[in-house]
Amino acid sequence: MSNPASDRGGMRARASQLRTQGFHARTLARWPLRGYSVPAPQHVKLGVLRRYGHAGGTWVETGTYLGDTTAVLARTALRVHTIEPSADLAQRARQRFVDHPNVTIHEGLSEDLLPGILDTIDGTLSLWLDGHASGGITHTGPVVTPIREELAAIEQRLDRWDSVTVLVDDFRGFGALAGEEGAYPSRSSLVQWADRCGFGWTVEHDIFVAFR
Ligand SMILES: C[S@@+](CC[C@H](N)C(=O)[O-])C[C@H]1O[C@@H](n2cnc3c(N)ncnc32)[C@H](O)[C@@H]1O
Repeated sequence: MSNPASDRGGMRARASQLRTQGFHARTLARWPLRGYSVPAPQHVKLGVLRRYGHAGGTWVETGTYLGDTTAVLARTALRVHTIEPSADLAQRARQRFVDHPNVTIHEGLSEDLLPGILDTIDGTLSLWLDGHASGGITHTGPVVTPIREELAAIEQRLDRWDSVTVLVDDFRGFGALAGEEGAYPSRSSLVQWADRCGFGWTVEHDIFVAFR
């Protein structure tokens, strides 16, 4: 016999899926009108994460925001650690992922929490470094971006992992983010870091990807 409550839940999930598909179709349709310029539609960027990240391994995301990328990663990852300093956004994420035992929400700054989280991970690791002040409801901490501290924490622990992929968002802003002179390190410093760590690297859709 069918359960009306779970039928309703299923219909709501399907309706939400159709709305998301409609949104993706509209943003994709507009992209050529923008000359395929950055930023690419979100699901195009997610394609980069899927291509280079290790499905079935551990993911670390810095900057949870609304948890949309977290949700996609959680579908295939063994575990997702996501870090968010805004108490409100972290609380929303805890609610959203209450039924996802493979997702851990860490409330705090990436520059404080990332080293300790990395010390608990071995095997295969993928990182989505996307935690930074972005205006609106997002958190502004002592630094606009903790990317320098994040890269240093990874470099100090490289021996822990069999393979590691690091994806850094907003490459176009490095060295040049308007009004935040010096907040973001230069693009060449990302390349030098990757070379020092023995990573191959590339840039796709405004994402700096380093892998080994
Ligand atoms: C661009 S949004 C993240 C989007 C999300 N990763 C996604 O893919 O949907 C940036 C987030 O980083 C958070 N943030 C700001 N400073 C941070 C820091 N020092 N450490 C970690 N997260 C930070 C902001 O509150 C915001 O939620």
